[in-house]
Amino acid sequence: MKKLTLILLTFGILTSSTSAWADAGETYQAGIQLSIQRILENLNHPGVTPGAVIASPSQHEPNYFFHWTRDAGLVMLTLTSQAERYPQVRIPVQNWSRFEKFTQAQALKTPGSSLGEPKFMVNGQPFTGPWGRPQNDGPAIRTLAMLSAFHKFDPYVEADISYLLQNWQLPNFDLWEEVKGHHFFTLYSQMTALRYAAVHYESQMRPQNAQALHRESMKIETQLQKFVDRSRNLVVPTLAGSEGIAKPAGLDISVILALNYFGPNMRPGNSQPAFWSYTQPFILNTAKQLTDTFARIYEINKRFNNMAPGIGRYPEDVYDGNGFGGGNPWYLATYGMAEFNCAVVLENLQRGQINTDPLSQAFYAKFSPNGLARVGRLTSASQQYWTTLQGLMNYAESFIERANFHAGNDGHISEQFDRNSGYRRGAADLTWSYASKIRALSRCEQARSELSRSFQRQGRR
Ligand code: NOJ
Ligand code: NOJ
Repeated sequence: MKKLTLILLTFGILTSSTSAWADAGETYQAGIQLSIQRILENLNHPGVTPGAVIASPSQHEPNYFFHWTRDAGLVMLTLTSQAERYPQVRIPVQNWSRFEKFTQAQALKTPGSSLGEPKFMVNGQPFTGPWGRPQNDGPAIRTLAMLSAFHKFDPYVEADISYLLQNWQLPNFDLWEEVKGHHFFTLYSQMTALRYAAVHYESQMRPQNAQALHRESMKIETQLQKFVDRSRNLVVPTLAGSEGIAKPAGLDISVILALNYFGPNMRPGNSQPAFWSYTQPFILNTAKQLTDTFARIYEINKRFNNMAPGIGRYPEDVYDGNGFGGGNPWYLATYGMAEFNCAVVLENLQRGQINTDPLSQAFYAKFSPNGLARVGRLTSASQQYWTTLQGLMNYAESFIERANFHAGNDGHISEQFDRNSGYRRGAADLTWSYASKIRALSRCEQARSELSRSFQRQGRR
């Protein structure tokens, strides 16, 4: 093993937990702490009922001064994951839970509304103007956030669960609020919510409830496999879409975000579906195609090509954060790609080998100094295994570097950054953007330390 160690040391790797962006002044925990602080500032914004999660303090051009069930749930899921180290998030999560119950009750009272209501005023009343509704990822994300924070059922959580059971088969609006149809992101959130709830029912000795949810989540899993487009080797975001925008490229970061938010990491016990993992070849190829496409279509990615590219929602996007002047990279998509790549590193470390069927090989090739020669698998006994994971790890952090690079001096981030100038665009201080940064930093911190630990262990053998 001596030779291997030497080779790796000459790459200057695996011995420390620093990285390009960390050298540039921000450590993982400093970034997480600052992002938590920014989220708490939004939660305490003047004029907002305690517990409401404004999407952004921006009240005009664009007006994001509303509580979206999705944004709020994702933010709370993220804060809950940090509660041990940052106990200051606990009270805000409790406030959110109370506020959310109020919005649920109000939605049920409002004609034309339902538990799939996407958006509320900061006083908890449903927004009643025209909007893409329902959006049925909301109740799933809310269920996951509630159960992960409080580990208990109440009539509100149960109302969401029965809403999901009754509605998951129906077309509804996607997370971008544009397309009506069946969506990978939404169905994935629902599958995981039902499975997560099932495991909680089991632990509370309610096996019948648990079985019913397991069965239904299996049906959703079967539906999810239909999103694999075998002619293009992609996982597409939507089937039977109508209204909104067409996506001929078949690419959407929502597929990757689904894995980040609701993937193997969110499944308690051993309830992992066999098909979906971070290293699923169609998923890897989807991530690769998204990355290559955004690298090509956004000018800023070519101008500063010493970092991983800024990632947008989907290549056909025209929403510029306020009007329709053309799509841009988004912070939550770019941090999301960092998070995803770090999850891929972790999964390979757990497995102790990298599978390199042709699709996966294409994904890993750019991280391996001489390309990945063999199709088959690389085990941790080979040098290429370590150089590939190290290359992927650096690349993952380079997405963090990219998103940080386009932040304000004081670390403020909004929804998007301009595809030509790189300046912040769209809703300022978007709450979800900060949550996505926390997720990326914490997953990548974990990946970096596991990588160096496993490598040291290997070296001792
Ligand atoms: C606001 C939505 O939230 C955003 O996702 C969408 O792109 C624009 N409206 C345009 O429909
Ligand atoms: C627009 C995004 O498309 C949508 O996903 C989000 O919920 C809202 N903005 C609020 O942030």
